[in-house]
Amino acid sequence: MKVAIVGGTGAFGRGLAARWREAGVEITIGSRDPARASERAAVLGVAGATNSEAVRDVDLAVLAVQSSAAIDTARELAHVLGATPVLCVASDLRFEHGAVYPARSAGSIAEDVAELVAGPVLSGFQALPAAELARPGLLDEDVLVAGDDAEAKKLVLELGQHLVSGRAIDAGPLANSRALEGMTAVIVHVNRKYKVVAGLKLTGFGD
Ligand SMILES: NC(=O)c1ccc[n+]([C@@H]2O[C@H](COP(=O)([O-])OP(=O)(O)OC[C@H]3O[C@@H](n4cnc5c(N)ncnc54)[C@H](OP(=O)(O)O)[C@@H]3O)[C@@H](O)[C@H]2O)c1
Repeated sequence: MKVAIVGGTGAFGRGLAARWREAGVEITIGSRDPARASERAAVLGVAGATNSEAVRDVDLAVLAVQSSAAIDTARELAHVLGATPVLCVASDLRFEHGAVYPARSAGSIAEDVAELVAGPVLSGFQALPAAELARPGLLDEDVLVAGDDAEAKKLVLELGQHLVSGRAIDAGPLANSRALEGMTAVIVHVNRKYKVVAGLKLTGFGD
């Protein structure tokens, strides 16, 4: 399987790249700057390229640029992405008066991305902390993935299972990305208040 991580020079993209490389996935990390991509890729033992070169001929492109750039980057790459499935991991947060809020009152970043690209869009992994991905061992939490395309979602759930010791869970249609993205504000608040690195785990599945 071939996966491109757009903006994979960042902490989250590098964490995903390292985990999936260990699992045998062929990874290319992308950057706006090819030199930065090559430098970070060499450390990880993966390939590096510009964002637009990275997404050519892959099974999945992960949109792991800074959240505020996710929509513009999707627009810029739409023609090269073609029908490639895209995983959106972004959340819009607003920090105000010492508190963190979901920045949006409607829709989600992932749904906006889906308006711009031809392939199926998935949303997930928002609650996985990059710092924990960088440590050894699977994360003790679940991953939740929303999307409207069953085949693409199966692929992302499989990739998610390489990250956590919990479950990779189908979280329903892409519109449920509103909840996944909004939940990030809750996680960030909890981390700050309790000085922890919180993750998500659903109960009720039995053994
Ligand atoms: N950090 C976490 O714990 C975490 C957890 C779950 C999900 N996420 C999500 O994962 C994504 C990446 O997070 P991160 O912490 O790795 O972010 P980041 O380090 O702030 O940014 C990632 C990469 O985005 C690129 N970038 C920055 N500004 C850009 C722009 N204006 N246009 C295009 N590319 C730009 C940069 O790559 P180049 O300069 O090399 O192009 C940068 O290395 C975000 O959507 C975030 O919400 C993060």
